[in-house]
Amino acid sequence: MTQMPTQPMIRISGVNKYFGDFHALKNINLEVPRGQVIVVLGPSGSGKSTLCRTINRLETIDEGTIEIEGRVLPEEGKDLAKLRSEVGMVFQQFNLFPHLTIRDNVTLGPTKVRGTKKADAVRRADELLERVGIGAQAEKYPAQLSGGQQQRVAIARALAMEPKVMLFDEPTSALDPEMVGEVLDVMTELAASGMTMLVVTHEMGFARKVADRIIFMADGEIVEDTDPESFFTNPQSDRARDFLGKILH
Ligand SMILES: Nc1ncnc2c1ncn2[C@@H]1O[C@H](COP(=O)(O)OP(=O)(O)O)[C@@H](O)[C@H]1O
Ligand SMILES: [Mg+2]
Repeated sequence: MTQMPTQPMIRISGVNKYFGDFHALKNINLEVPRGQVIVVLGPSGSGKSTLCRTINRLETIDEGTIEIEGRVLPEEGKDLAKLRSEVGMVFQQFNLFPHLTIRDNVTLGPTKVRGTKKADAVRRADELLERVGIGAQAEKYPAQLSGGQQQRVAIARALAMEPKVMLFDEPTSALDPEMVGEVLDVMTELAASGMTMLVVTHEMGFARKVADRIIFMADGEIVEDTDPESFFTNPQSDRARDFLGKILH
């Protein structure tokens, strides 16, 4: 098989998704080049989480295709597990295993899913924990860490699978305000390292500073798809203007 060098990292084509009669994603088309950082904005209920969840197939779609590096998302089985490991996801809730140490939370995926040798997984976990500023806490349990620290562990855990893409769904929304910055700093560093990222967030400073591109969603549709400067200074749609008016004031 020939590898096309220009293949986007993510390609979403003609995707429609329903929950019963409710049309949650309406003809979504989106190409994300390798290394690009997209921030997804939009009011509550606009389909941002659903979009994220379809990309690693936590949700099925009813129409269209989603490809990662030119490969259509597998339906199930081993291929799907592999794809999930290539698309890391960080949620609002950190979902760490409470009975495992921080280090074991990070090594679990690589050893169980990837078959990585324990010693190699531990070495890599400790590097990643260092990178997200949790190096000294590896022996502790999640409940002994602050929310901001737990979310940084969740990022390290996703990175341990060596993902090609990272999806973040409101990763700072459950945090106390003083802990938001430390998580955004890790994400900013990750973006600078060249990771392809799709980030749902209400952190407008981050969106403005770190995003290469803004996607604005409303009612299950992509309403605007533009650069941050244009979006924040000159939104084209009434819905985006209304959204910015509410969130910035
Ligand atoms: N599992 C589900 N069953 C039924 N409706 C759902 C489900 N998940 C999401 N929805 C609906 O789909 C719409 C989009 O939800 P969501 O993607 O969570 O929006 P956002 O993340 O932008 O707030 C909402 O109206 C929500 O109620
Ligand atoms: Mg959501």
